[in-house]
Amino acid sequence: MYHDFNYEATLASSLRAQWQLDDVLKADQELDFSRNFMPESLARTAAVESLNPFEQRVLNQISAHQYLSTFGIIEEAILPFVLDHARPHLSGDDWRVRALVNFAGEEAKHIHLFKRYHNAFVRGFPVECQVIGPAEAIREEILRHDPLAVGLVILMIEWMTQQHYLGSIRDDNNLDPLFKDLMLQHWKEEAQHAKLDTLIVDALGEGRSEEQIDKAIDEFFEIGAFLDDGLKAQAGFNIDALEKAIGRKVEDREALLEHQHQAARWTYIGSGMVHERFKATLESLSPRAAERIAEAAPVFA
Ligand SMILES: [Fe+2]
Ligand SMILES: [Fe+2]
Repeated sequence: MYHDFNYEATLASSLRAQWQLDDVLKADQELDFSRNFMPESLARTAAVESLNPFEQRVLNQISAHQYLSTFGIIEEAILPFVLDHARPHLSGDDWRVRALVNFAGEEAKHIHLFKRYHNAFVRGFPVECQVIGPAEAIREEILRHDPLAVGLVILMIEWMTQQHYLGSIRDDNNLDPLFKDLMLQHWKEEAQHAKLDTLIVDALGEGRSEEQIDKAIDEFFEIGAFLDDGLKAQAGFNIDALEKAIGRKVEDREALLEHQHQAARWTYIGSGMVHERFKATLESLSPRAAERIAEAAPVFA
């Protein structure tokens, strides 16, 4: 076996890591808009030379708004996916049932948390930041695919959030402490989700022929392309919000759009595609699947 994850141990660490919503973000808590929210390695806003430092920070905050809005939308797809996966075997392994139901409960709490964050953002930010959607339509589009393909996308995303926190957020002292703590708390619970996703994908891949796996990887790419289109549209909305907030049009909108779209590609897709744990699951599923995804990864770097 390429990992030692199991439902009993994962549930135990999950119950130890759990937090209450009010301990992370109270309904009336305010964000500190004098600080950056997103780490530079994900937002890539300090690299935009046509913006002054104040404008770069405004774009950084818009990028953080996108981050939590996007995860809110994705988690609205994860919640029914996990429940659907748990549902056919509710009288089976008790550890499995409890671990999956707990997973779904935590994801519902995260959706709630991200909505709270969104409300705090709206209260403190001078203009409206449009977000792609509606969330229901995005969820339906993702979930209409082969569960193995959906499971792989979710696995990739949940490992990716682990890497975002450890690799970019934890040691960045320029970030708003509240936003940082929110990401820390999310990371603590997501660590168990990624393990459970691994078990889910293992189960969904069992007994599949190479041809069936290949087909699921085709669908994985379809979902990836759909998300990528959404990221491009979102990059446009982000620039609209930036222009409104700073009261001027940006120079060379096309170049900025491409730059910010590429930053989002790395944040939401590429950084997951190259995650070692995700690659290990792919290798175990099928070396050909691992190879196909590795070949596509540089586009999202
Ligand atoms: Fe989450
Ligand atoms: Fe999660």
